Amino acid sequence: MRRAKITIVGAGNVGATTAHWCASMELGDIVLVDIPKMEDMPKGKALDLMEASPIMGFDANIVGTTSYDETADSDIVVITAGIPRKPGMSRDDLLSTNARIVTAVTEQIKQTSPNAVIIVVSNPLDAMVQRAWQVSGFPTQRVMGQAGVLDTARYRTFIAMELGVSVEDVSALLMGGHGDTMVPMPSCTAVGGIPVTRLMSQEKLEAIVERTRKGGAEIVGLLKTGSAYYAPAAATAQMVEAIVRDKRRVIPCAAYCDREYGVGGYYVGVPVVLGDGGVQRIVELELTEQERADFQKSVDHVKSLVATMDSLMQSDA
Ligand code: LAC
Repeated sequence: MRRAKITIVGAGNVGATTAHWCASMELGDIVLVDIPKMEDMPKGKALDLMEASPIMGFDANIVGTTSYDETADSDIVVITAGIPRKPGMSRDDLLSTNARIVTAVTEQIKQTSPNAVIIVVSNPLDAMVQRAWQVSGFPTQRVMGQAGVLDTARYRTFIAMELGVSVEDVSALLMGGHGDTMVPMPSCTAVGGIPVTRLMSQEKLEAIVERTRKGGAEIVGLLKTGSAYYAPAAATAQMVEAIVRDKRRVIPCAAYCDREYGVGGYYVGVPVVLGDGGVQRIVELELTEQERADFQKSVDHVKSLVATMDSLMQSDA
């Protein structure tokens, strides 16, 4: 069987760590690409990672480059390019700079890998994935954003820490945008099959939800020089794995919702079936009144962000 070709755009912390997880999971051959200004840096990171392979025992060809020629005909392209947050910044503060970067990157991908599945990781996530879809013109199934897996992982971690149990036994779901309006779903959160509400007080759970909402900012505040990368990269690798191995995982992703949940043509976090070809299906749940209201608030925030981005991009054009 031919190995999948995975291109990762951006050889910074998130991109390089995504390459690391993907290589160690033997998901395919990897091309790490960055802008020409970075000169040999992507080559250095790729070679260093490749040299770890005899020790860790994985087979993957890993190449670093500043030319999209080497990314040609990728099966999957992960976009991590963009500036990260500094302490005190929100994800939304990155909008104009990263929209321009994602536009330029997607134009290249469209030319060189017209059949790829695109996974966007750059922030503000929901707007950036909308941009990649607009510029690529790819079918919606082949363009998606990583956020829900990361947010859910943070939520699962905090629940496991609170209960003193294995993270493996915590399954959960968060919906909505990747920001302060993300919507936790306690009704879809269980620990070893037991509804979380039977194991924890409402107050404790609310505190955990609040910490999850601010989970990205918590890491930015600690690192001071950038944003999180181990967990964002692991979340991305899980999505790559679901696609290249056609696992049909049920995980939350930023997926294009039109009639689904009444969203009306925007990317927002919802549970999907992720497998060969990308988003195979959006899972539509009956939401409670509160969940629906919270979800709508999150969708409205995403819409206003996209409206700001669209007018910025129009004045660029
Ligand atoms: C975070 C940033 C990367 O949530 O969005 O850590």
